[in-house]
Amino acid sequence: MTVSSSAGGHGRCLGNGAMALRWLSVRSLGQRGADHWGSLCRVMARGLCEALIYHKHGDPLRVVRLETLKPPQLGDTDVRAQMLAAPINPSDINMVQGTYPILPNLPAVGGNEGVGQVLEVGSRVTNLKPGDWVIPSDAGLGTWRTETVDNMNRFSKVPNNLPLLCAATLGVNTCTAYRMLYDFETLKPGDSVIQNAANSGVGQAAIQIAKAMGLTTINIVRDRPDLQQLTDRMKSMGAHYVITEEALRKPDMEELFKKVPRPHLALNGVGGKSATEILRHLVKGGTMVTYGGMAKQPITVPASALIFKNVKIQGFWMTRWKQDHGHDLVQEMISVLCDFIQAGKLRAPVCTKVKFQDYTTALKAATTPFISSKQILIM
Ligand SMILES: NC(=O)c1ccc[n+]([C@@H]2O[C@H](COP(=O)([O-])OP(=O)(O)OC[C@H]3O[C@@H](n4cnc5c(N)ncnc54)[C@H](OP(=O)(O)O)[C@@H]3O)[C@@H](O)[C@H]2O)c1
Repeated sequence: MTVSSSAGGHGRCLGNGAMALRWLSVRSLGQRGADHWGSLCRVMARGLCEALIYHKHGDPLRVVRLETLKPPQLGDTDVRAQMLAAPINPSDINMVQGTYPILPNLPAVGGNEGVGQVLEVGSRVTNLKPGDWVIPSDAGLGTWRTETVDNMNRFSKVPNNLPLLCAATLGVNTCTAYRMLYDFETLKPGDSVIQNAANSGVGQAAIQIAKAMGLTTINIVRDRPDLQQLTDRMKSMGAHYVITEEALRKPDMEELFKKVPRPHLALNGVGGKSATEILRHLVKGGTMVTYGGMAKQPITVPASALIFKNVKIQGFWMTRWKQDHGHDLVQEMISVLCDFIQAGKLRAPVCTKVKFQDYTTALKAATTPFISSKQILIM
């Protein structure tokens, strides 16, 4: 049996590359619990590894299971890395469900983001060595596994003194926030940005990067019983204003714009009414960038916003950006973001660490609303 990596690629079916995406599934691993670590060591000693695999699309809690695999042989330009930590992101869930625009060949290993430590490199690999920390350069690595073997160009190096959770969550959400803040509008200190899903992984990165850029952030979240706690947490990251979806629709918002300039940029990860509302507050000629559609609702753009305010409606997809810009520019962006982390300007989103073998707990939490904590599988 061959197992493809989970995701990413070029708007086509994945897992068809010649590189080391083929894994021999040995058997389902029925073992759980306290003896898992001993089991894992025995597995690794036999040259095997463990991975969270799905053989068909569907509810992640039903179709994802832990299996033992045999990694492929290391080629001349390949890198073997031990995965250390990998998050569960909404796009990972959508891929398992079969609803994401790009899908792997099945069976597939889940996960697109994470951090690993290089164990071994092929004879022609010059940019990486054992001990280095790496993150995927693009989507599709299938990071929910204990070990991976893939071409050197599919990895970007990160300093191995980064906090583990920062490294594990750097490659997708943090990069997305960074690109959206820099690539669509020329923002200067004192300008403002408005965003919904502001407590998401992308949103938390946007708050911190925007703060480092001297921008004021207006952060929209859904109301909840522990709103004050969430607000405090977001403000401790650098959020200036935290406002509920309900308050966003009220005339009181005009009071805010007596103190804060209207935003040039709106970041939309939700869609539906929420997108229309943040769009309404943009300055004339401003831009709304849509990167996610958590509400699964289409976006309504009032004609007046286009005619009288000439707002620009754009979209962003990190996967496409990485394809279009190539490995060197991806590595450059990662290096800039690592500098932010090392300068104390960027920390990981709020996370819950979950042992790899407790993946069902993590999958459940990752698909539950209002959890506000990124589930990170620790291998
Ligand atoms: N375009 C790209 O390149 C790109 C890159 C990264 C991520 N994304 C997308 O960005 C979105 C956020 O990803 P993430 O990993 O940052 O998310 P996350 O950390 O898992 O957080 C999910 C966020 O979505 C909010 N949410 C969930 N359902 C909602 C609904 N029905 N209405 C309004 N808000 C809702 C959650 O709010 P509560 O706390 O209120 O539940 C939370 O803020 C996803 O759609 C993801 O696929 C896109």
